[in-house]
Amino acid sequence: MKIKTLILAAGQGTRMRSALPKVLHKIADRALLHHVYDTSAQLENNQIFVIYGHGGELVKKQLAQLNVTWIEQAQQLGTGHAVQQAVSYLNEEDIVLILYGDVPLLKKVTLDNLLANVSEKSLALLTVTLPNPTGYGRIVRNEQQNICKIVEQKDATAAQMLITEVNTGILATQGGQLKNWLARLSNNNAQQEYYLTDIIEMAVQDGLTIQATQPQNADEVLGVNNRQQLAHLERVFQLEQVNRLMDLGVTLRDPARVDVRGTFTKLGRDIEVDVNVIFAGDNQIADNVKIGANCWIENAVIAENVEILANSIIENAIVGANCRIGPFARLRPEANLANDVHIGNFVEIKKSTVGIGSKINHLSYIGDSLVGSGVNIGAGTITCNYDGVNKFQTIIEDGAFIGSDTQLVAPVTVGKNATIGAGSTITKDTPAAQLTLSRSKQVSIAAWQRPTKK
Ligand code: UD1
Ligand code: CA
Repeated sequence: MKIKTLILAAGQGTRMRSALPKVLHKIADRALLHHVYDTSAQLENNQIFVIYGHGGELVKKQLAQLNVTWIEQAQQLGTGHAVQQAVSYLNEEDIVLILYGDVPLLKKVTLDNLLANVSEKSLALLTVTLPNPTGYGRIVRNEQQNICKIVEQKDATAAQMLITEVNTGILATQGGQLKNWLARLSNNNAQQEYYLTDIIEMAVQDGLTIQATQPQNADEVLGVNNRQQLAHLERVFQLEQVNRLMDLGVTLRDPARVDVRGTFTKLGRDIEVDVNVIFAGDNQIADNVKIGANCWIENAVIAENVEILANSIIENAIVGANCRIGPFARLRPEANLANDVHIGNFVEIKKSTVGIGSKINHLSYIGDSLVGSGVNIGAGTITCNYDGVNKFQTIIEDGAFIGSDTQLVAPVTVGKNATIGAGSTITKDTPAAQLTLSRSKQVSIAAWQRPTKK
């Protein structure tokens, strides 16, 4: 038995008021359609199709990595018409699962429950009871409480309008039967659309029962039609993320002010996170790491007992155990710090390794460098790594002491245990264990007088 999942994603999303197709809007840095894909990709023996239309080329381009078959619906003539586009891909014995590209938070367990109800004798329908059912198709049940049809809001009678059990649009049915019903759809309704929902009444006429299941939580089946709904679902998603973090032993000073826009391949225990911290990409964070307020942590590998002080940014960088970073530090891609390193305020490190116990505490730029262990780099030191065309390496060997406000003009090597006098511009390699400085002699002019105003 094979599942064929059809994700309907051709709608225009007019109410987003956006140049971007609706399904490319994001929750936690991931396109709505990508979320739907991720959930359905967890089902076994499943082939996924996306019905695209409005702005479809951009959708295909931005989500080219998804393992799906793309099917165009050139004109959007309704949900039934959308499914009709896939008919040639469906076999009699397939189980066809219909999902929506703009309903991102559906859970796999909900799909499992739904799929358990499909057979030749029954169509599985996901419904939900909403206090305010406005806009949704209403689930009409007969006296025996069996579902007999779905009525769209615009076609509903006053009595049907009061029904609070609504159609989520998500359903599963057998391929052969679906093909038969699709061929019989008409657009004879208030919106002159081919309604997929009309297959419910046909199924009942063909002697099937409609088996309704409900999601655990209504947020799972909410769609995104405007920016308010997008923001609401972002919050719902974030609440799930932070709860999971806390379940895994992370302290969040305020769970409402931490955002997780990615994954953790490693997450230790007793990590402490202050407010306004954003995790992006994939992070690996070991035990006892403390992260101060307002930090951006993206694709970082952070070892145990590291302290990241407020307002620091770490991106594609590796931080060894017991390091202290910040406040206001920036570790850029390929910064690689060994254990016990201190990186202080307004220090930027790019594509550089820094050895054990080295300290770069104030106002520095270190780029394309190899910094040894036990090195101390004084305030305001910069590596001049770029001549406007090419980049060059700076090597600072173990135990070197770089005086404040030094420029190291790469390519250049500072020898082991060398000392560089403050304010130097170093353009040539400096010998080990010696003092090197490039500084004009200090003079004082005794007879000098300040100018006076003319
Ligand atoms: C549909 C259901 C309604 C249900 C509601 C749940 C029908 C007729 N109605 O209504 O019972 O309560 O969803 O949100 O099915 N789409 C296409 N091609 C089209 C039309 C739509 O791909 O030609 C896609 C949209 O991108 C969207 C989904 O189908 O992802 C639903 O379309 P939408 O227009 O939002 O359906 P509703 O009228 O809200
Ligand atoms: Ca809708």
